Amino acid sequence: MAAIKFRNVVKSFDDGKVTVIPDLSLDIKDKEFVVLVGPSGCGKSTTLRMIAGLEEISGGELFIDDKKVNDVAPKDRDIAMVFQNYALYPHMNVYKNLAFALRLRKMPKKEIDEKVRWAASVLEIEPYLDRKPRALSGGQRQRVALGRAMVRNPKVFLLDEPLSNLDAKLRTEMRSQITMLHKRLQTTFVYVTHDQTEAMTMADRIVIMDKGVVRQFDTPQKLWSEPADMFVAGFIGSPGMNFIDCLIVRRGESLCAEFAGNRLRIPSAKVKMLEPYEGKNVVLGIRPEHISAYTGGINTRESCVITVKADIAEMTGGDVNVYFNLGESRCIARIGTEKKISAGDSVPLLFDGNSAHFFDKVTSKAIGI
Ligand SMILES: Nc1ncnc2c1ncn2[C@@H]1O[C@H](COP(=O)(O)OP(=O)(O)OP(=O)(O)O)[C@@H](O)[C@H]1O
Ligand SMILES: [Mg+2]
Repeated sequence: MAAIKFRNVVKSFDDGKVTVIPDLSLDIKDKEFVVLVGPSGCGKSTTLRMIAGLEEISGGELFIDDKKVNDVAPKDRDIAMVFQNYALYPHMNVYKNLAFALRLRKMPKKEIDEKVRWAASVLEIEPYLDRKPRALSGGQRQRVALGRAMVRNPKVFLLDEPLSNLDAKLRTEMRSQITMLHKRLQTTFVYVTHDQTEAMTMADRIVIMDKGVVRQFDTPQKLWSEPADMFVAGFIGSPGMNFIDCLIVRRGESLCAEFAGNRLRIPSAKVKMLEPYEGKNVVLGIRPEHISAYTGGINTRESCVITVKADIAEMTGGDVNVYFNLGESRCIARIGTEKKISAGDSVPLLFDGNSAHFFDKVTSKAIGI
């Protein structure tokens, strides 16, 4: 069991002059893989370091397994942390790096050997046990760092941007290795990254932080389909969601969103929550994936075709990102490669109203959630 609970936790630096976490409450479940994401400086590492006990808590309470740990020393918390820079001992070979913490604990040699070999076999680093860290690749070093955490058999794994030193291919590989490791070890993992792809692919649940405040704590699927506010909506997804100012109006029987001379009928499921906004400006959010190339044919009641001028058509492999302006808004559509599009072309695009989001202009919160 290793559930982690933050109750109104405050973290300040410089004798309380700078507060980086004003009021954090968070429940991480036993065996969960939770990822903390957010912009640089939002407090991710600080949060992780508070769990580890490397950073004192200025206010509130932190529990691990229902035990209050505010004043428990890091070594007594049964937690292992893996950092971005691995922090391996350069003069020790891989075996000794893995065995180090266990020798400090005066574990019998035979038991140490079993644990080291078990970790090395899970992480597939057995061939390198005699090598020094400098003779290993980035990915191999990263696995040694993970192995050092594993042999201690901790209740909680804390990982702070462990893959940021690796190239793209290795990152993808290590990503799935860490996910498998979590499944195999069945322990609680808290993982910090500012890479949203990492967060989306690895997490059971994601904490989205902004300036020390949790904007949303939810499954990847929910963050994608029901973002709580514009910050979350813009953070999750790549390229990010398009935001377009619009006016909610009634046209005949239908409630519509009008923007830059265009009109999108509000899907029936969203009419009720948008009715109070009739006559007001709101922000329409639509993901690049939900704007497609219009190829003629039937167009549902809730979608609309808008012809735009593409200023950039960016090939990304399987798709093309088409950049265009819509009124004051800079927008991107992510469309298939079937239709060849070049910069300067006029392109008819189909906006899928059923996938549209609406946000309050003042609070930036999603309307109706
Ligand atoms: N010892 C310290 N003294 C003063 N301020 C600090 C200290 N440590 C961190 N901070 C501040 O706390 C804020 C949060 O820092 P933190 O390292 O948690 O951010 P982060 O989300 O991990 O960012 P990054 O993605 O850049 O690693 C930052 O504004 C940082 O400058
Ligand atoms: Mg950090």
